Amino acid sequence: MNALLPNRKVAIIGSGFVGASIAYALTIRNLAREIILIDLVREKAIGEALDIQHGIPYLGMSSVRAGDYSDCADCDLIIITAGRNRKTGESRLDLIADNISIMRSVVSELKPQYTRGVILIVANPVDLLTYKVAEWMDLPNGRVFGTGNILDTSRLIRLVADYTGLSTEVIKGNVVGEHGDGQVPIWSRLSIAGVPVGEYCDSVGLPWNETIREQMDRTVKGMGAEIIKDKGKTHYGIATCVCYLADSVLNQRLTIAPVSSVLQGEYAVEGVSLSVPSIIGANGVERRLEETWAKEEKERFLQTAAKMKTALQGI
Ligand SMILES: NC(=O)c1ccc[n+]([C@@H]2O[C@H](COP(=O)([O-])OP(=O)(O)OC[C@H]3O[C@@H](n4cnc5c(N)ncnc54)[C@H](O)[C@@H]3O)[C@@H](O)[C@H]2O)c1
Repeated sequence: MNALLPNRKVAIIGSGFVGASIAYALTIRNLAREIILIDLVREKAIGEALDIQHGIPYLGMSSVRAGDYSDCADCDLIIITAGRNRKTGESRLDLIADNISIMRSVVSELKPQYTRGVILIVANPVDLLTYKVAEWMDLPNGRVFGTGNILDTSRLIRLVADYTGLSTEVIKGNVVGEHGDGQVPIWSRLSIAGVPVGEYCDSVGLPWNETIREQMDRTVKGMGAEIIKDKGKTHYGIATCVCYLADSVLNQRLTIAPVSSVLQGEYAVEGVSLSVPSIIGANGVERRLEETWAKEEKERFLQTAAKMKTALQGI
């Protein structure tokens, strides 16, 4: 019976709040046949796998278990969440010293085992870590990519939905650049069921102006820190975003989302990993889209690229 089903094997390296939430969300959505949890602290992976497994008889068909790096050999998707989280007051870039050494040790264990599959980076600072893992793994461009601005975009869409009173599914837009302070909402292309947002707001008598946009921009940028202040971590939002990306990779349901990958001249930028709208499929980022943005949006994006290049030089 199992032989008839596609393999859809996923390894999650790092079984903390984010890794375990991803495993739980993947299980509930039946997106993988086999989920392997790997952690430096093996008991943590075992405990989380057992806890998630116990809901499967009523919900799904995935097998969830703790494993080690040899399990990564034949995975369709390898998700890396290993790394420490931000403390209140820290920026994501403040994590680089600790998380680059964790990532170095993860890749040194993963690389000898790796044969195929997409590698999705979730640990922060996600753009810098994506760039370094892509460099160390030396795979075709796009095979390593990071969640980047998908969570920021999801937060922005939530805000616009609340503001307009509409369902999130009719709101289309992107936040691009850095998953951090250098993120850039692309207001010039934000649309509601295909109608530019300004035009939509005019037609229903809602104000739409610079003050509202700046407020939304600030709220999205500060959302992670706000949640960390309240509960010490963020994990559910990113877990559902990862499910969305996993569905594209595992089921070849090609989608377009703002994820982070190493640019090769798009928007006149190269040698840095940033989010731009990207087609995602079985090979990871299959291609990046080049849209026309407003002049000030492009300028902000280029400033972010310069900042991230400087940060990379310091690693
Ligand atoms: N990209 C995003 O949008 C996003 C959102 C939320 C959190 N994050 C990031 O995800 C990361 C994980 O957050 P968390 O809340 O799960 O943290 P956590 O501390 O709960 O979990 C981290 C796990 O990594 C494990 N680990 C550490 N070093 C390891 C190694 N060398 N090999 C294997 N496992 C190792 C730890 O034992 C721990 O279980 C953080 O860097 C956080 O900033 C990213």
